[in-house]
Amino acid sequence: MYINFWYPIALSDEISNEAPLQVELLNQKVVAFRDSEGTPIVLANVCVHRGGSLGLGKIKQDGIECPYHGWQFNAAGQCTFIPTQADKNPPKRAKVDSYPTQEKYGIVFAFMGDLPESERPPLYNIEEFGAEGWRVNRTFSFEVNAYYERSIENGMDMAHNEFVHPNQGAPSVGESIRIHPIQIEETSDYGCGFIQPFDAEGASEATKLMGAGEGHTRAGSSHHGPNTLITRIKFSETRQFLQVFFEAPVSYNKTRIFFINMRDWMLEPDKDENLIKINMQIAHEDVNIIESLDPVETPDSTTLELLTEADKPILAYRSYLTDWESRGWRIDRAKLEAQKGKAACAIPSPARRKSKSWVLPPIPLHSAAK
Ligand code: FES
Ligand SMILES: [Fe+2]
Repeated sequence: MYINFWYPIALSDEISNEAPLQVELLNQKVVAFRDSEGTPIVLANVCVHRGGSLGLGKIKQDGIECPYHGWQFNAAGQCTFIPTQADKNPPKRAKVDSYPTQEKYGIVFAFMGDLPESERPPLYNIEEFGAEGWRVNRTFSFEVNAYYERSIENGMDMAHNEFVHPNQGAPSVGESIRIHPIQIEETSDYGCGFIQPFDAEGASEATKLMGAGEGHTRAGSSHHGPNTLITRIKFSETRQFLQVFFEAPVSYNKTRIFFINMRDWMLEPDKDENLIKINMQIAHEDVNIIESLDPVETPDSTTLELLTEADKPILAYRSYLTDWESRGWRIDRAKLEAQKGKAACAIPSPARRKSKSWVLPPIPLHSAAK
């Protein structure tokens, strides 16, 4: 898992000004709520007094009140009131991390890291979202008992389709990859992907009806950052599906996937629910596979697997992860496990670059490469 990226926190309508929402993310907890103007606020969950869980507290004056002794923290995470010393200003060190937020696609996202704004990897921008000629399904989410990198790798993996999704009538990918070797392209500073042509050979009647195999059918995937997966299926230039997964790594064996599903044909709204149903059938086929992988996490070394040409996109994704690790953004799981239950920590927020005075240490990270 990596800090310094935008992560989905919750669907927009799950976050309110009425009660805080406690969310598990990156093996930590955060609390999310809205101020009286509706702006989403995301704070680290652990109260710096004596470890109270802010997510179980109350919203007070655009901030949050700890359920244990009533300390109040504002949107910036600064403690503004300590009931037992109501006549004094709380000390500067009485603060929790506050994360930058943005709301898009019906999702509240938070930037979980300490990079200043100018250096932050951007949230993936779905150009087609809201564009003329595109229909967007309602955003929804589902949880899987799998590690998020396994899910992203599954989405970047062409070779599984005809075995895991036989009912979708996928043309033989093996054949296609032999004829058209996978070309990986950089899609941004934070990701890469490919788009693969398919030949008519092997296309099912159903996919032929959608225009498959007329010499222009293409499908491919890309990733943006560690946790966003973009899949395009182009039966033809005017018949495309576009799917974006914004993935929230909850823990090392649980992931919440926020799903944006779009198309540039079959634009009638009454097609939405059936398409969601089909998409979820396909997703369940994937989930059955990724929940049963051994090991649960992606192995750290490729010598513990036997990869082939068709796994090129997986290796490309991993090379980005390695780059982010070398920048010092990877959470050190072993150290985190070792301190579990004994010492709390927090994902560092941008304010840590300006002030050194914090009660809780930042989450342990692998050191940056020299
Ligand atoms: S633990 Fe939060 S106010 Fe005491
Ligand atoms: Fe799949």
